[in-house]
Amino acid sequence: MEKKCGCWAVLKRSVKGACKSSDSKNSVTTIPRTSLVHDAVTETRYLNASNREMCAPDEPQDSSDNPNPVPPPSDSNAPRQLLQFSFQELKAATGNFRPDSILGEGGFGYVFKGWIEENGTAPAKPGSGTTVAVKSLKPDGLQGHREWVAEVDFLGQLHHPNLVKLIGYCIEDDQRLLVYEFMTRGSLENHLFRRTIPLPWCNRIKIALGAARGLAFLHGGSEPVIYRDFKTSNILLDSEYNAKLSDFGLAKAGPRGDNTHVSTRVVGTYGYAAPEYVMTGHLSSKSDVYSFGVVLLEILTGRRSMDKKRPSGEQNLVVWARPYLADKRKVYQLVDPRLELNYSLKGVQKVSQLAYNCLSRDPKSRPSMDEIVKVLTPLQDLNDLAITSYHARSSQQAKRKKKSDGMHQLSYNQSRSIRDSPLNSGKQRCK
Ligand SMILES: Nc1ncnc2c1ncn2[C@@H]1O[C@H](COP(=O)(O)OP(=O)(O)OP(=O)(O)O)[C@@H](O)[C@H]1O
Ligand SMILES: [Mg+2]
Repeated sequence: MEKKCGCWAVLKRSVKGACKSSDSKNSVTTIPRTSLVHDAVTETRYLNASNREMCAPDEPQDSSDNPNPVPPPSDSNAPRQLLQFSFQELKAATGNFRPDSILGEGGFGYVFKGWIEENGTAPAKPGSGTTVAVKSLKPDGLQGHREWVAEVDFLGQLHHPNLVKLIGYCIEDDQRLLVYEFMTRGSLENHLFRRTIPLPWCNRIKIALGAARGLAFLHGGSEPVIYRDFKTSNILLDSEYNAKLSDFGLAKAGPRGDNTHVSTRVVGTYGYAAPEYVMTGHLSSKSDVYSFGVVLLEILTGRRSMDKKRPSGEQNLVVWARPYLADKRKVYQLVDPRLELNYSLKGVQKVSQLAYNCLSRDPKSRPSMDEIVKVLTPLQDLNDLAITSYHARSSQQAKRKKKSDGMHQLSYNQSRSIRDSPLNSGKQRCK
C-alpha cells in the first residue's frame, strides 16, 4: 500500500524531537533523540570526518547554524507529498544494492540505480516502472543524519524544473536513504572530466543556464535559500542536458530583513567556496555566485577547480585563470582545448566576463543570479563559431593567394582534424 507523508511539517516536528513513536516504519518521528544531542566536541569530530567541512576546530561555531536545519517555508508551492519507503522495498528496488547498480559515491554514501512501481513505493523489475536513484547514508552518524534531514526538508518543499526531484525517503533504525528521480546523464563532473568525448559548447551553455536558473530560484524567494555546495558533481543532467541541482544537505536559510548575511560554520567544498565565507563564516547568496563563477570557469576550460596533478601555478583554477579573464585578447587561451575551434567567439567573451565578475573578491560587486541568467540566455542562440570564422578567413586569404596566418596558427593537419571532429557537426544550437 502506498504510504504518503506530508513531509515538511512532520519532519520539522520530528527533528525537534517533539513527537515520539515506536513504529519507525510508519513515522518519521523516530529519529533517535540521542543523535540530535550536540556539543562543540562531537560537532567538531563529525565535521572533521566529512570531506566537505572546511572548519578548523577553533573557528567560531555559530549557534545559529543549529543541528536541525529548519528551512524557510518556500513561497513556491505546498509541500510535495514525499513517499516513505521501507528499507526492504529499496533493497529489492536496487537488486539488493548490487555493486553493478552503483551510480556514484559521494561524502554521504553510495548512490544506486533502482526501479519502483509507478505511483507507489513497491519495487519493480529492472527496466520497468519508474527509474530512481537511491542514495544510502553511510552509517557514520550525526553529520550525515543532519544532511539527510536538511535534504528532506528543503527538497520536500522546493520544486523547480532546475532542482532534482526528491521522490521519497527511508528512515528505519539506523538506515537513512533518499530516493530521487533518475538523471539519465549523471553529473556535469562526469561529462566535463571523465568522458573521452568532449561536451559540446552549446550543451555547456545550456547546462550553465539551467544551473543558474536553479540558483536564481533559490535566491529569489521571499525567504531565500543559500545552496552552499554548488559544484559540478551536484549538477545532474537529464537526457536533454537540462541541469538540475541536487544535494541540499548543506543548504541554509538566507538572511532576512536588512541583514546581508548569516554567520555559520564553514562548510562546502575546497576550490568552490567564496574567500570571504571561508575567512569569516559570513554567508550570503553572493557566496553561491562565487561558486557559480568557479563552475563557469570549469565549463569554459575543462579544468577542475583544484587539480593537484597540474604544475604548481595551475593547480588552483581561479588563481591560474584570473589574469586571462581580465584581458579580452587572452580569454581564448582559456578555452577547453578539446573543443578545438567549436565554440562561439562572442560566447567565450561573455562567459569569461561573467566568470570574472562572479569571482570578484568583493561580494557586493558580484552579479545576482537573476542578472547571470539574463547574460547567459542569449548565448544559446549565438552561431559565431570560431571554426566558421577560421574557414572564412582561410578561404579569403586563399583567394588573395596569401599564406594563411591562421587565427590560431593552425597547421593544415590541425585544421583538417577540426573539420573532422565529432563536435563539428554544424549543428550547434541546443534546445
Ligand atoms: N538522481 C541521480 N541520478 C543519477 N545519478 C545520480 C543521482 N544522484 C547522484 N548521482 C550520481 O552519484 C554521484 C554521487 O552523488 P553524491 O551526491 O552522493 O556525491 P557527490 O556530489 O559526487 O559528492 P559530495 O558528497 O561531495 O556532494 C553523482 O556524482 C552522480 O554521478
Ligand atoms: Mg552530490
